[in-house]
Amino acid sequence: MRLSRFYLPVLKETPSDAQIVSHQLMLRAGMVRQQGAGIYAWLPLGFRVLKKIEQIVREEQNRAGAVEMLMPTIQPANLWRESGRYEAYGKEMLRIKDRADRDMLFGPTNEEMITEIFRAGVRSYKDLPKMLYHIQWKFRDEIRPRFGVMRGREFLMKDTYSFDVDEATARQSYNKMFVAYLRTFARMGLKSIPMRADTGPIGGDLSHEFIVLAETGESAVFCDKGLIDMDCPKKDIDFDGDLQPIIDQFTSLYAATDEIHDAAEFEKTVAANDRLAARGIEVGHIFFFGDKYSAPMKALVAGPEGRDVPVQMGSYGVGVSRLVGALIEAYHDDDGCKWPMAVAPFHAGVINLKPGDNAADKACQEIYDGLAAAGVEVLYDETRARAGEKFARMDLIGLPYQVIVGPRGLEKGEVEFKRRADGLRETMAVGKVVETIANAVKAELRYS
Ligand SMILES: Nc1ncnc2c1ncn2[C@@H]1O[C@H](COP(=O)(O)OP(=O)(O)O)[C@@H](O)[C@H]1O
Ligand SMILES: [Mg+2]
Repeated sequence: MRLSRFYLPVLKETPSDAQIVSHQLMLRAGMVRQQGAGIYAWLPLGFRVLKKIEQIVREEQNRAGAVEMLMPTIQPANLWRESGRYEAYGKEMLRIKDRADRDMLFGPTNEEMITEIFRAGVRSYKDLPKMLYHIQWKFRDEIRPRFGVMRGREFLMKDTYSFDVDEATARQSYNKMFVAYLRTFARMGLKSIPMRADTGPIGGDLSHEFIVLAETGESAVFCDKGLIDMDCPKKDIDFDGDLQPIIDQFTSLYAATDEIHDAAEFEKTVAANDRLAARGIEVGHIFFFGDKYSAPMKALVAGPEGRDVPVQMGSYGVGVSRLVGALIEAYHDDDGCKWPMAVAPFHAGVINLKPGDNAADKACQEIYDGLAAAGVEVLYDETRARAGEKFARMDLIGLPYQVIVGPRGLEKGEVEFKRRADGLRETMAVGKVVETIANAVKAELRYS
């Protein structure tokens, strides 16, 4: 991508209304633009990150056996009257009337709709288990939208729903999502800690929040430090095998969000040196809630004994748009973002210090073409901006690798190579830089 064709409206000043660094950097790097309280337009750079995150979430859902679909954003109120949640949900629900004066709403979540879809198509336990998901925009009229995309009103969520004949098999579905979530966040470079959580308006009795530790996080959390060093399950994990030992391992140590934190238990079960009281960002949340929706909405299946039983359900959310902010909180410095390769908007940037100079133009084009041929996503800055401005902009948007090309270096056949993560700089032969970056990108994207 040529920068002159791209749309990258970077800001020089830090917007005064942005309180946390991820929000500041998303505005400064031209990733999003606010359109209303808690409502954001995703500009091209931010959109690329959002899509990368979405794709990782999708791949790990598919691997765990969930099947993708797409439900609408607008829902009829009647569905929610069946479950009793139309009144119960309160002011967070954005209520709309259509031209025939029918009550509609902008979906804050999809339990009711998926239950309706399930009951229309499944009659017998023999068709179970099933896991269905979609990645769709939600709207919640939050009292206090803040921190940019971290707590928006409109936000992108992946929500999965599981259907099982009994509680024992439902727990297996829960375990699959538990493992899929550990892997999903690890692939993005995030250490997530599953913590026992309150079930909130969704109800039920088994729930974990996946928390990324960050000083700016909205959740107060308490856990055993041992959880930080636990290894994420590897790519060869068999989702149809017994996952219970992994869940037992991760739930063997104390970890709870403040809603259900028990200080006495914490002090009794965790040695003083191992206690961590910190703040975190909730990037995912999984619930098992049994027949909370299937019973009132009559989503019944014929069980093995021939009797109809309400299907046992769980729901599993990932905050896809929130993750963009969470990733910046985890990966930045004073100069800007420092994207992990898996979610970087582009893998590398090429800076031409003297566009119009024959040698510089030719070398940049060769590097650009060579990287593209090797599957590397490149943003090529061939604009006429000052060198200092180009360097600052490239650091701000945080692409993992940079190649800086100028006539002076080219006289010696050299360019500068820079790694954003640690600031490493090296002078390199023009002929070597493509291979170096292509290999590094490939290594960092290796599926593990
Ligand atoms: N207002 C919001 N803005 C951005 N992401 C959100 C918002 N609310 C929820 N999410 C994300 O969606 C995931 C699933 O939501 P859920 O647990 O149902 O919401 P909540 O925890 O707010 O009740 C959360 O773990 C979080 O990552
Ligand atoms: Mg939650």
